[in-house]
Amino acid sequence: MSEASIDVSRTAAEGIALAARRLREARRLVALTGAGISAESGVPTFRGPGGLWRQYRPEDLATPDAFARDPRLVWEWYAWRRQVIAPLRPNAAHRALVALEKRTPEFLLATQNVDGLHGTAGSARVVELHGTIWRLRCTSCAHTREDRGVPLAEIPPRCACGALLRPGVVWFGEALPEEPVTRAFEAAREAEAVLVVGTSSLVYPAAALPQVARAAGAFVIEINPEPTPLTPLADVSLRGPAAALLPAIVEGT
Ligand code: OAD
Repeated sequence: MSEASIDVSRTAAEGIALAARRLREARRLVALTGAGISAESGVPTFRGPGGLWRQYRPEDLATPDAFARDPRLVWEWYAWRRQVIAPLRPNAAHRALVALEKRTPEFLLATQNVDGLHGTAGSARVVELHGTIWRLRCTSCAHTREDRGVPLAEIPPRCACGALLRPGVVWFGEALPEEPVTRAFEAAREAEAVLVVGTSSLVYPAAALPQVARAAGAFVIEINPEPTPLTPLADVSLRGPAAALLPAIVEGT
């Protein structure tokens, strides 16, 4: 009987022990995170209860068309999110990924989050698939700048060249930044295990990362309080909050 086929009868403790063992044994590891890993830090998720996309329409706020139509409105929303995130701190799940990175020879953390909390926690081998809310990019010249100022000095902010700056995030309908995506998918194809934490696994191409890893033979571990479209493909799917489960599987033996 394969490990995957006993999934339904496995207890939570068995799942944690198996995930812990696979993580400890893996020399090449990819982690994929989504909004759920930052939920316990206080960052709103997108699709769950209280999720941003339950209150706001992404097409009004997170598309190139929305920005072209009303840059001030889009910027006011991002300025509000920056204000919400600025005082928040990484939680035990972010810190567990730092510990995992330190002990794993080949490790890459691919995050869909734009909050920067992995970097604040101390993760170094990180690719931000959807950009970062702390970087501003000129809509005309090639200029980008890091700006952690809250509140922003002006809304909408402008570049020295006179054109509008935009948030350094990926909007719906836009391509993801090439270099991070290439690195993440290369690492996924090489990985012995992939750890997927706090994502609804609905948004592509990020959602394809664990599928690619699995097709290349990786062991798939999912941590999420709710089942997702990835759950049937996972070798171990642990139901619960990341800040409790991730330290348990990283510190477990
Ligand atoms: P979602 O809001 O779609 O999903 C968050 C996931 O986290 C859900 O599956 C929750 O069940 C889970 N979750 C909630 N609390 C958790 C906790 N304490 N521990 C672990 N998991 C928890 O967020 P993402 O999957 O990240 O893109 O969304 C993907 C992309 O869609 C985002 O990057 C954003 C959004 O539109 C862009 O803006 C381009």
